[in-house]
Amino acid sequence: MGNQLLQRQIEEEKVRKHNAGLLSVAVGLALLSLLLWGWLGQNDPYTRQVLSFQGNVARGEAIFRVNCAGCHGLNGGGNVGPSLQGVSKHKSDRQLIQQVISGKTPPMPKFQPSAEDMADLLSYLRTL
Ligand code: HEC
Repeated sequence: MGNQLLQRQIEEEKVRKHNAGLLSVAVGLALLSLLLWGWLGQNDPYTRQVLSFQGNVARGEAIFRVNCAGCHGLNGGGNVGPSLQGVSKHKSDRQLIQQVISGKTPPMPKFQPSAEDMADLLSYLRTL
């Protein structure tokens, strides 16, 4: 009788350990894919190319006037779109690039500037 109980406890312990093992494998895989996703997302060729340019503020301003000022105001002061003044303080370069090219926050359209144009735009956004 006592033996059976002990046996059952041992079995339960085995199952518990097995489940804990599975759980940590799952957590590990999830973390790994998150890391990989972040790494790939931040190192896509386009972003890397944009960041390899110095960026020309005057050209960036011209691009901004044509494409962005309608919604964000002439000096990024805001209109339909939010003010972009000081935007580079709460968004990183990579986040700013994503904001421009992703089209994930309608009504802001998705833009596809060349890497050089994007670099110019980025250098202008940093001055706001
Ligand atoms: C049709 C209007 C429109 C145009 C054109 C537009 N935007 Fe926007 N933009 C928005 C709106 C609306 C948001 C807010 C989106 C949200 O977060 O819901 C936004 C958000 C942003 C943000 C994030 C602001 C923050 O505080 O995080 C940045 C940066 C930005 N726009 C840059 C640009 C640039 C650069 C261009 C030109 C290439 C541009 N936008 C063109 C409407 C526009």
